[in-house]
Amino acid sequence: MNLNLIKAYTKRILQMDVSGHDFYHCQRVAVSAQKLWQQDFSTATYNDEINAASYLHDTMDEKIVADPQKALSQIRNLLTTAGFNASQQKDIISTITQMSFSKNIAQQQKLPLFGQYVQDADRLDALGAIGIARAFAYGGSHQQPIYDPHLQPEKLSNHFQYRHHQTTTINHFYEKLLHLQNLMNTKAGKKLAQQRSQYMQQFLTEFQQEWDGQK
Ligand code: ADP
Ligand code: NI
Repeated sequence: MNLNLIKAYTKRILQMDVSGHDFYHCQRVAVSAQKLWQQDFSTATYNDEINAASYLHDTMDEKIVADPQKALSQIRNLLTTAGFNASQQKDIISTITQMSFSKNIAQQQKLPLFGQYVQDADRLDALGAIGIARAFAYGGSHQQPIYDPHLQPEKLSNHFQYRHHQTTTINHFYEKLLHLQNLMNTKAGKKLAQQRSQYMQQFLTEFQQEWDGQK
């Protein structure tokens, strides 16, 4: 399997992005998805699929590419050239399309098992120290305020509607990020998500105390 071909494609598509969808995000997702898999199964089966899905998971997002359908057909060709067979391609594509469009579909299909690890790794990268950094990078690139005491976090029945309302980056933690720990697919992923959420809670407490002049 020619993973270098896939990495080069991801680098080319994501090179201009400053909103947290960068090549290194994909690299972290690949590494941590494999680690989670290894913890649960003690083998490296599906390594190739995990790598391909991780590196490609943001390359057909409607926020990044103008024409996701065109991106999809490019990805099919890429996977063929890289050496993936039809059944592997089906599972990789099902994973990345569901991950890309997850914000728009209420009823999700079940991801292939390896895809559930990739999705957990993607969510983990929105948590912890890196998650905090990415949230403020996103906020900055979308002219979103850091915090506004007059803007309460919205209670969203669907975590994926957050993009379409006025919010702040601090509110985004309450509207989405702190809920991710409850959406994890895998046991190992859930445990890490809880640890990273705790760290974010500490950050939010500290932030509030500094804001209020208590520190
Ligand atoms: P992905 O495509 O990786 O599933 P998103 O596109 O939802 O995730 O978000 C990418 C990164 O940008 C995440 O770290 C997320 O927390 C952050 N982000 C998304 N929306 C907002 C927002 N409204 N405010 C702050 N950060 C955001
Ligand atoms: Ni991602």
